Amino acid sequence: MFPYQRPRRLRKNETIRRMVRETSLSPDNFIYPLFVTYGKNVRKEIKSMPGCFQESVDRIVKHAKEVYSLGIPAIILFGIPEHKDEIGSEAFNPQGVVQKAIRAIKDKVPGLYVITDVCMCEYTSHGHCGIIEGSDVKNDPTLELLAQEALSHAKAGADMVAPSDMMDGRVEAIRTALDDEGFIETPIMSYAAKYASAFYGPFREAAESVPQFGDRRSYQMDPANRREAVKEVALDIEEGADIVMVKPAMTYLDVISDIKEHFSLPVAAYNVSGEYSVIKAAAKMGWIDEERAMMEVLTSIKRAGADIILTYFAKDAAKVLNR
Ligand code: PBG
Repeated sequence: MFPYQRPRRLRKNETIRRMVRETSLSPDNFIYPLFVTYGKNVRKEIKSMPGCFQESVDRIVKHAKEVYSLGIPAIILFGIPEHKDEIGSEAFNPQGVVQKAIRAIKDKVPGLYVITDVCMCEYTSHGHCGIIEGSDVKNDPTLELLAQEALSHAKAGADMVAPSDMMDGRVEAIRTALDDEGFIETPIMSYAAKYASAFYGPFREAAESVPQFGDRRSYQMDPANRREAVKEVALDIEEGADIVMVKPAMTYLDVISDIKEHFSLPVAAYNVSGEYSVIKAAAKMGWIDEERAMMEVLTSIKRAGADIILTYFAKDAAKVLNR
């Protein structure tokens, strides 16, 4: 075929490259994670995640305005409560940090779509995502707590809830609890294929949710498994999930692609803390071009099949895209 076929013809200049580009990013694709903590006028940078903060409700409202003004449609909220206990009761306290933040943000920035992370690990003294018996994380008793937590978020005005605990049956438990109380229109985005990943390290500092013993491998997925992700997603869809998520993103692009092929629901991917921090760190060392690396990573996640990307880069990337 050479010299008749010369693929370089379509790479000649930016105009033609733009015309044949297969994947495009938009701020519409992003969800920006925010960490809400107790107190007043708190804005504490997370050391391992430069540019990300733990913020009190008053400060998070300002931050939410900034996110909205960049054209990012949604945030996902994580809470750092003042008190933790065995069953994570702050998770479903109507006066908890997340519940307060939802009300304040919906009041001041009503156009911003507020999603909440539903999990126990930020609220339990042991740092696990469920109820502990001995050294075991008990599945079924945890479902009731997760359902209460999701319901309290919906009551506070959350637009969507996102369970990240990986207990079996939690989507159904949450769907039932929401429907019983009339929240039939509140969608569930499930962290459907969530792997036991080393890349959550910086987040656990951010959310103060390091497990006090053991690890999460008895509930989060084994990184070696690909077909199992299809099973997990199928189950969550049966249980009523509206959007399914793969997490992390960069090391699971094959899984994102599989889920996109197999199902017709919107697919989300979580570009997690460690994926963010390694780029930040390498850029700080002068080893990579931060902006190019960021855009390449986000484009790859979209190209693999993600419709929605949860990312700490959302603001930086939106600024690039809005230029
Ligand atoms: C809570 C939760 C975690 C993340 C999102 N929700 C941490 C974990 O499972 O340990 C990770 C997010 C990130 O690393 O950016 N279960």
